[in-house]
Amino acid sequence: MDSSSRFTDRRSVDARAARAARWMLALGVTLLSSACAQVPPAAEETYKPTPGQVGKDVVWVPSPPAVVERMLDIAKVTRDDFVMDLGSGDGRNIIAAGRRGARAVGVEFNPDLVGLSNRNAARQGVADRASFVQGDMFAADISQASVLALFLLTDNLRRLTPKFIDMKPGSRIVVNYFGIDGWQPDYEEEMKSDCEPWCVIKLYIVPARVAGKWRLAEGELELEQRFQVLFGTYTANGKKADITNARMEGDRIRFGIGGVQYTGRVQGSRMEGERSGGATGAWTAQR
Ligand SMILES: C[S@@+](CC[C@H](N)C(=O)[O-])C[C@H]1O[C@@H](n2cnc3c(N)ncnc32)[C@H](O)[C@@H]1O
Repeated sequence: MDSSSRFTDRRSVDARAARAARWMLALGVTLLSSACAQVPPAAEETYKPTPGQVGKDVVWVPSPPAVVERMLDIAKVTRDDFVMDLGSGDGRNIIAAGRRGARAVGVEFNPDLVGLSNRNAARQGVADRASFVQGDMFAADISQASVLALFLLTDNLRRLTPKFIDMKPGSRIVVNYFGIDGWQPDYEEEMKSDCEPWCVIKLYIVPARVAGKWRLAEGELELEQRFQVLFGTYTANGKKADITNARMEGDRIRFGIGGVQYTGRVQGSRMEGERSGGATGAWTAQR
């Protein structure tokens, strides 16, 4: 065999091999796609929760979509927030927060709902910001959250209240329908359209803790605190008087002494601000 016929033979072998490879590839693709078409989706892919289904401490009932968005509006969620939902169901509050650019984590006891939430987050393109953990909400660390978006029973909220008041002052807790016992909402709204049922939204702003004695320039303030509502007395020159119109909004405080209105900010063991009314100018107080 001369060198040119060897070359011709080599080329025809190469061509046959290439044809066979193309054929096998096409066959492989066909087999793979028909296999994919025939294998039913994994059970978890088709998991569909039923409203009212049993949950560990509360059943699953989803917040209506319009309520979810309005809750986040009322809590003024931005990309700077870290949002958590305790009992996050199918993930809707957390995914909606992720769509607003916030970092968000849902805690859900039911692992099927956690799987569904993760798939929903991926489908909606927010899996990098919105994530879910399987766990008990009563054991969850909420200390870093700036916003909680919740739909729980009053009894659940009561158990969580000690953790709520330990959150950073100014954190917002926005709830659907059921409220927190003994804590007046800072804002409440009933949605009349696009919503049925479970359409009352309540906002609670975590107050700085100020109960106790504070020294002002000329007297002593003694405060009692029920969430954001303050009561107390001011004592100066041996005279004691009740303070009036006294409340917190996050770390901001206001109260009245006689005809003078005090507004200011609390930072640890110090408060400072401005007076108006019968006296004006700056004021400070120390614990
Ligand atoms: C009323 S649904 C609210 C779902 C969601 N937050 C919403 O607004 O649509 C309450 C959820 O809490 C979950 N859950 C019940 N007990 C729990 C617990 N101890 N820890 C975590 N999740 C719990 C239930 O499985 C259910 O998904």
